[in-house]
Amino acid sequence: MDFKHISAMPREVLEAIAPKPGGLYVDGTLGGGGHSSLIIERIMPGGRFIGVDQDQDAIENAQKRFGHLGDAVTLVHDNFANLPAILNRLRIEKVDGILVDIGLSQHQLDGSGRGFSFMKNEPLDMRMDKRSGVTAAELVNTLDEKALADLIFKYGEERFSRGIARSIVKKRETAPLKTTDELADIIRGAMPAKAVAKQKIHPATRTFQALRIAVNRELERLETFMDAAPSLLNPGGRLCVLSFHSLEDRIVKQKMRALAAGCICPKDFPICTCGNTPSVKLLTRKAVRPKEDEVSENPMARSTRLRAFEKL
Ligand SMILES: C[S@@+](CC[C@H](N)C(=O)[O-])C[C@H]1O[C@@H](n2cnc3c(N)ncnc32)[C@H](O)[C@@H]1O
Repeated sequence: MDFKHISAMPREVLEAIAPKPGGLYVDGTLGGGGHSSLIIERIMPGGRFIGVDQDQDAIENAQKRFGHLGDAVTLVHDNFANLPAILNRLRIEKVDGILVDIGLSQHQLDGSGRGFSFMKNEPLDMRMDKRSGVTAAELVNTLDEKALADLIFKYGEERFSRGIARSIVKKRETAPLKTTDELADIIRGAMPAKAVAKQKIHPATRTFQALRIAVNRELERLETFMDAAPSLLNPGGRLCVLSFHSLEDRIVKQKMRALAAGCICPKDFPICTCGNTPSVKLLTRKAVRPKEDEVSENPMARSTRLRAFEKL
């Protein structure tokens, strides 16, 4: 396994999470373990760290990196959407901070062989957790044309979704699609040449994003997590979320703002009747974006947005 430890916005993440010596922290997305190691350095000795990832490769990498710390570090192969159950199993009620850095690790893109990138010819799998769920190949080979177009539009915001779905369905009538190259070629061929020439991104970017989101049920899991996370924090505990595209960021922004506002009365109500009070203080009014020097060093960080709050 070739794990590179490039972590997005390390300084800003540390500022947001503010790990306390001796504290209890969760990283819900271990990936290459870069952010985890920054947190671990600051809470040990005396602290406890729970690292979660749905990708077994990330767990194995973390075992190599953090195994020497013994019981102070617990690694869990699971989805962060299941964090309440994970902590319950560990007999932990509340923690001092939670980080999730959603998206793909460098290893998943470059070295997992699971077809996350159109830059490599690999089987169309795209599952972060190899134990469960449908693969991208199953989706493109079985969904009807309308469902496929809707998926590409909804999760990829791809305006040529209908044409792409039509071309996929036509192609699979001869033989099922198996590889990233086959899919990327179909997508390119289904888009008007002028649009391809004008776009700054690879023509397959949006469709690949859409399939990955659907395969891993990413938005659904993020919503489940965002609903549960506040109740898992001690007063003064912090949640920091790094998201990778606008669909994720919208969910994070709306949930955080609602918690900080407390009141859920309609805007035109003259006085509050719901009685809800704020349960968190926002640490970021607007999403924090990476600085130019970081983007030039680590182009993958370009679309990262960081939001954080502190539990009241
Ligand atoms: C961008 S990487 C994290 C990089 C990490 N912060 C670092 O510094 O190396 C994202 C990781 O989160 C994992 N992941 C994404 N969504 C997840 C989820 N819902 N539950 C658990 N792990 C998830 C992926 O498998 C991947 O390993």
